[in-house]
Amino acid sequence: MDKNFYITTPIYYPSAKPHMGHAYSSIIADFFARFKKIDDYNVHFLTGTDEHGLKIQRSAEKQGIDPLEFCNQISETFRDLSKTLNLTNTDFIRTTEKRHKKTVQHLWNVLEKNDDIYLSKYSGWYSVSDEAFYNDDEIEDVEGDKIAISSKSKVEWIEEESYFFRLSKWGKPLLDYYQSHPDFIAPESRKNEVISFVKSGLKDLSVSRKSFSWGIKVPNNKDHVIYVWLDALTNYLSALNYPNSNDQLFKNFWPASIHLIGKDILRFHAVYWPAFLLAAKIELPLKVYGHGWILSGEEKMSKSKGNILDPIEIINQYGLDPLRYYLIKEVSFGNDGNISQERLEDCINSDLANNYGNLCQRVTAFAIKNCESKIPNKVKFQKEDIEILDKYKNNLDNIRDKIDNQNINFYIDYIINSLFEANKYFNDQEPWKKKDDLLRLNTIVFTTLEIVRKISFLLYPIIPNSSLKALKIFNLGESDINFSSIGNNEFLIKDSKINKIDILFKKIEKNND
Ligand code: MSP
Repeated sequence: MDKNFYITTPIYYPSAKPHMGHAYSSIIADFFARFKKIDDYNVHFLTGTDEHGLKIQRSAEKQGIDPLEFCNQISETFRDLSKTLNLTNTDFIRTTEKRHKKTVQHLWNVLEKNDDIYLSKYSGWYSVSDEAFYNDDEIEDVEGDKIAISSKSKVEWIEEESYFFRLSKWGKPLLDYYQSHPDFIAPESRKNEVISFVKSGLKDLSVSRKSFSWGIKVPNNKDHVIYVWLDALTNYLSALNYPNSNDQLFKNFWPASIHLIGKDILRFHAVYWPAFLLAAKIELPLKVYGHGWILSGEEKMSKSKGNILDPIEIINQYGLDPLRYYLIKEVSFGNDGNISQERLEDCINSDLANNYGNLCQRVTAFAIKNCESKIPNKVKFQKEDIEILDKYKNNLDNIRDKIDNQNINFYIDYIINSLFEANKYFNDQEPWKKKDDLLRLNTIVFTTLEIVRKISFLLYPIIPNSSLKALKIFNLGESDINFSSIGNNEFLIKDSKINKIDILFKKIEKNND
């Protein structure tokens, strides 16, 4: 049976300069997408840009251009970023596209038909930066400004006619759903946050705005545009051509396997979105995972705070794979993480250059010199060879399980330990002292080459370019990478040629003054 996996990143507010937080969200999603791909899943990986709302309208006005023109330009920077980050996204959606508008208006009609939407008047606090409504108890006074406590962004008072979604009606069904689907919200701490928010009572949600025009029009009332979050969240469905439930994309990939998001937008994904879906009688996604923030100092990195670390600059200086590796390893997944250039350099030197790069170079150079540049043909495994090789096979299901629970920390630790063990094995076995026992020498080389191959497969979701570079040793390419075959101890073709490869990671000279 076909195994399908649908993963989404949030669609990004187009800003001229994507920052490390955006890069982080996307790289993590790409890690999961690549992992599932090599584990024989059909993967649909969606990202894109969220282009409506007052925030965008005001940004365009500031530049004196039409909002669509503004979005056309800026959306490109995110498309470019996907390429720069080497993402394997299978779609890039823009909320200004026709396919998206159609789905949003359809969903609106369904909600209205089901009596989940009604017209009334809204008065309350609104943050344009978050595109979110806040209650009195969610804001504070800071030097004369009203600020949302959670996001620290400015709020303004609005009063206008508005359509409302009957969110209050969905509190109990949501709580029941969380209880009967304990994996729906992760990690656990975030689930508790959401449950206590819902338990504190949900108010109906304003889902249209009348005082500006940059959005998708409410069907049958052109004076209103649809609230940007109702619009944006629906992208996960419009990318599958919903409401056409006969569409192959929809059939294969809905419900989504996972919406990967930052914790700041958890309420939208774990409360509003499932409520809209319940109301429209559409199946809910299987999981919403709220990861932590990349901090700059103690604060969330963001444009409005001016504390941005530019991923492009880091990539230009160190390369993409070191950044991908670093973000995946150093930010304990689910928690916030502080990033520093010094720790990035340590990672490159110790994990990538010393542990992985060196292992690849050492065993290849040895095999080229002592095994006629070929994968040894005659091998006879001893206990210690089988032991180290079998560890991979014996861990495959465990690794799969950990990935399904988004335990990236386990995955990376597993690789680091494997590298450590592999280096130790090669040192302890001392093949350079076995020149008069060629069978043993060949077996040690074969075993180590197999381990290099296995670890390179494991590293592919994290550092795809470097893993592929290493696999050139064996003339293996992307289509040869398969998770199950990490369990195969004799995957390499005996007698086939071994290639010398360029150095994988250059060590960074560190100035310790
Ligand atoms: N447009 C909305 C999402 C709509 S999804 C239907 C949005 N856009 S955003 O550009 O502000 O943020 C996109 C993603 O980047 C979010 O998951 C957000 O949590 C993440 N990050 C933004 N800053 C971040 C950090 N400093 N650290 C980690 N991720 C953060 O929200």
